[in-house]
Amino acid sequence: MKHFLKETDFTVAEAAKIFAMARDFKRRRARSKGAKSVLAGQTWAMIFAKSSTRTRVSFEVGIHELGGNPLFLNCRDIQLGRGETIEDTARVLSRYVHGLIVRTFAQDDVERLAAAGSIPVINALTDLLHPCQIYSDAFTLAERWAPAGGDLLRSLRGRKIAFLGDVGCNVANSWIVGANLFGMKISLAGPKSYAPGERIRTLLADQGLAAGYHYTPDPYEAVADADVVYTDVWVSMGKEREEKQRIRRMRPYAVTAKLFAAAKPDALFMHCLPAHPGEEVAQAVLDNPRSVIFDEAENRLHMQKAILAVLARAARR
Ligand code: CP
Ligand code: NVA
Repeated sequence: MKHFLKETDFTVAEAAKIFAMARDFKRRRARSKGAKSVLAGQTWAMIFAKSSTRTRVSFEVGIHELGGNPLFLNCRDIQLGRGETIEDTARVLSRYVHGLIVRTFAQDDVERLAAAGSIPVINALTDLLHPCQIYSDAFTLAERWAPAGGDLLRSLRGRKIAFLGDVGCNVANSWIVGANLFGMKISLAGPKSYAPGERIRTLLADQGLAAGYHYTPDPYEAVADADVVYTDVWVSMGKEREEKQRIRRMRPYAVTAKLFAAAKPDALFMHCLPAHPGEEVAQAVLDNPRSVIFDEAENRLHMQKAILAVLARAARR
């Protein structure tokens, strides 16, 4: 069974097709052309243990637009939240629905759901990774950089992304994997105690990718020659108890107008959102004409429709 639990669950060739499909879905939607047959008659369950605006809404709307039925299940409302095992949950839901979209804490939990069930599973964010975000972000960049009708993935090769702040969070981890998969360079700057760890190096090695990333404690070194400046919140979901110390340690890595100006003159600013203006990023940077934060958010919809279509097709074989 084909799943999407991490960026490398698709090969570069498969990713190229998915990116092209996302572009097609985006164009069709702009022309009000439907794609209702893709998930016709299917129900996809969305098991969420954490809050969400973009991921929840883009998946619910996307499944609906593909002719399917999204079934939102808050973890607190199902027996999983009262101790039913992950394996039994996966086996039972596999008898009812055609796929699972899961937002939770441990990456191991999505892996266990995928292993025990007999339907595709999509990782909609764990503490370790956020692969739907990174595919959508990379698509957002490729849309801007690829020549009209040209190869989307090729346009990413050799480009440099600088990630500032919480360099150990799910989005940073996923960007490390994504940058390596898509042939980009990545430089991360944040407090050393949050620097990418053994888990991400092992993941890269397991996927046959070299540990190609650069860490520096100096934010200006990270953004030098960068095509993209990226940041995420300093206090991810589940880390609320560390809030004070995180804010204190990460403050030198805030993306100010001055820091953004130290990247390439045409550099783009990205943030997965939600943002905390005045904390990890200045309002002026969020509002900068080179900020593409709302394109990223929109592209979640088009990219996830492509991922759903590919997994549904693979499951039918
Ligand atoms: N970027 C993102 O995943 O947003 P939500 O938490 O609102 O889903
Ligand atoms: N790192 C953030 C991403 C939110 C989309 C979190 O996990 O809360």
